[in-house]
Amino acid sequence: MSLQKAAITGIGTYVPDDKLTNADLEKMVDTNDEWIVSRTGIKERRILPKGLGLSYMGEHAVKQLLEKTNTDPLDIDLIICATITGDYRFPDTANQIAMKVGANNAYGFELGAACSGFLYALQTGSKFIESGTHKKVIVIGGDVMSSIINYEDRSTCVIFGDGLGAVLLEPSPDEDGIHNAIMKADGSGVDFLFMKAGGSKNPIDAELLVAKEHLVFQNGGPVFKRAVQGMSSTVKDVLALNGLTRDDINWVVPHQANIRIIQTVASMLDFPMERVMVNIEKFGNTTAGTLPLALNDYESKLKKGDKVILTAFGGGFTWGSLYLTWAYDS
Ligand code: UT7
Repeated sequence: MSLQKAAITGIGTYVPDDKLTNADLEKMVDTNDEWIVSRTGIKERRILPKGLGLSYMGEHAVKQLLEKTNTDPLDIDLIICATITGDYRFPDTANQIAMKVGANNAYGFELGAACSGFLYALQTGSKFIESGTHKKVIVIGGDVMSSIINYEDRSTCVIFGDGLGAVLLEPSPDEDGIHNAIMKADGSGVDFLFMKAGGSKNPIDAELLVAKEHLVFQNGGPVFKRAVQGMSSTVKDVLALNGLTRDDINWVVPHQANIRIIQTVASMLDFPMERVMVNIEKFGNTTAGTLPLALNDYESKLKKGDKVILTAFGGGFTWGSLYLTWAYDS
């Protein structure tokens, strides 16, 4: 007996109003618009005002999602929030969002996995639906990267921004929905992309603060190469797992970290860029937010039954690809 599939039945998003443009960054670090656009594809990012936190974006996106899908918040069973920038180290931001939207019957939890967070959370959420124990699961991906970026480090600060998206998962009435995924991790990648201080290994002290080791460090070159390799190989694996070729796929939805990574992955797969979702120019790399923000921007083009592959790579290292067939016409 095949399990009931989990289908995405709606999307809600939130990005802050404040924009950080390449011209703004030129005044902050030694960089220029030409370098940023040609090396990353990014023109601007959104920045959340201090004091609001991830739950503010989550509240707005989930309220929009509930309205769009005509869902009573009291019917939500579970909220999974993929993020590395929750409101607090504890308690959990998923439950803050549940409280703010009136999802009083839901429980929730945060999930790390950095830029692969939404993909990991989508795979996790789908299992709660497939098992039959949960009927309405909200999967959120988003980050307030401006809260952990070193705005003196030109190679890192130009790529990140703030934003969040949320999807509703429900049991599919037919065969459309999330089919399967191939998820990977390699903990030996830790030193290439991480925050050294602030966890239990190196609690923040004055020395670490002065050295700005409570902020994101990235050695971009090796991360770039591993991202290209990880995303292209798992897309190929997920195609093979489902007996599909690239010509069968309507859309690839890649993590938006660098347009050159996206273009290289597409070229390695011999996949036309016209069928690759790209919105990096508007938001930069919002870490766990990129996939739902891209899906939202292309929602009007998605048709029921479209074959879609989501793929991501992030700190950890974590990466993977997920295959779904789109469940509704917008
Ligand atoms: O999202 C999760 C995973 N993260 C990623 O996938 C990010 C992967 N990495 C990248 O996207 C790229 O490595 C970066 C965008 C972070 C950096 O681009 P790059 O092409 O790898 O640059 P680079 O670090 O190799 O630096 C090339 C040159 C250097 O100058 P020299 O040594 O050749 O004189 C840098 O100092 O570009 C310089 N540079 C800059 N110049 C102007 C680095 N950042 C900047 C900048 N503006 N913002």
